[in-house]
Amino acid sequence: MALTFDTELLDDSTESIEKAAELIKKGELIGMPTETVYGLAANAFSPQAVLKIFKAKNRPADNPLIVHISDMSMISDIAAEIPQLAVSCAKKFWPGPLTMILPKTSKIPEITSGGLPTVGVRMPSHPTALALINAAGVPLAAPSANLSGSPSPTTAEDVMSDMKGRIPAVINGGECEAGVESTVICFTDDAIKILRPGRITKEMLEEVSPEVLIDKGVMAKVENSEPAASPGMKYKHYSPKAEVFMIDGTAEQFRHYIREQDTRDALCIVFDSSDMKGLQIPFITIGSTSEEQAHGLFSALRSADKHGAKVVYARCPSIDGVGLAVYNRLIRAAAFRVITL
Ligand code: TXA
Ligand code: MG
Repeated sequence: MALTFDTELLDDSTESIEKAAELIKKGELIGMPTETVYGLAANAFSPQAVLKIFKAKNRPADNPLIVHISDMSMISDIAAEIPQLAVSCAKKFWPGPLTMILPKTSKIPEITSGGLPTVGVRMPSHPTALALINAAGVPLAAPSANLSGSPSPTTAEDVMSDMKGRIPAVINGGECEAGVESTVICFTDDAIKILRPGRITKEMLEEVSPEVLIDKGVMAKVENSEPAASPGMKYKHYSPKAEVFMIDGTAEQFRHYIREQDTRDALCIVFDSSDMKGLQIPFITIGSTSEEQAHGLFSALRSADKHGAKVVYARCPSIDGVGLAVYNRLIRAAAFRVITL
């Protein structure tokens, strides 16, 4: 697309939020901080505004958007039916990084829901996101603010690097706390099904529902010919320009494997600098807890590009708790190339 905007980087003052809200009311897009990743926000009720999101991101039209609210009273205009389990989840996890897939009302345009009869709804906890929704007076449709296929942005600078010229403004709300996108769930009979893992874990959801299922698309590849429970599962995702390999083994096995590779133009993404003991290859550490790894993964993938790496060898994260979200994003960044040692 033509880069027509002189994209403004706004601070998160009340005046800036007002200015951004005015742009939203005029049908424009705003880069918006949330507690998960930055979103690319537009009036969810306006098909013309939402179309701009798909254009700016170069996003496939069948990949639906999440609608963000700031107050429970907004949900009746968005969701046609709210099962009891959804009410319980909202009470426990909102505002926060949980998206619920619910039947949509006719007020939600087809373009927002990617043509589906359902819609994803989330109440973010980031004060700037809540303030922007309030000031705009409408729910905001917002996918992650990256170009389609790239790692999600966790800073305003990341949004700038993908969206400069494509949108009028980005609000700088600092570094995102979680670093991975919200947990996406749907409801089947009396169970909750996780379509995309995130900061709200299976164990946390089990406090609301005895049965929490994980869709098979979370761990495995969904072929384009197969029906996907969530369209986002089908697409190439979170990929830096480098070819990423996920290396499943101990730190010792990892070092042994790396020593045997041609490591010109390679970069390693590891938990801790001790993982690289004795190796002379550039590396990025993302921490040893799943929370730290979630926080640092996308920025590490973006740094790999800035570094000009052609190949990235990443240590395989644990799948416990938030680790499942880290694993789910990394395996997609790696196009399912997992090397088990
Ligand atoms: O944390 C987040 O969720 C961030 C921030 C900005 O809120 N947003 C985000 O949006 O990650 P996006 O568009 O990058 O990812 C939304 C995911 C996609 O995989 C999409 O396919 C899925 O949610 N999704 C949205 N609506 C859906 C629906 N009606 N049915 C099934 N999946 C849906
Ligand atoms: Mg996204």
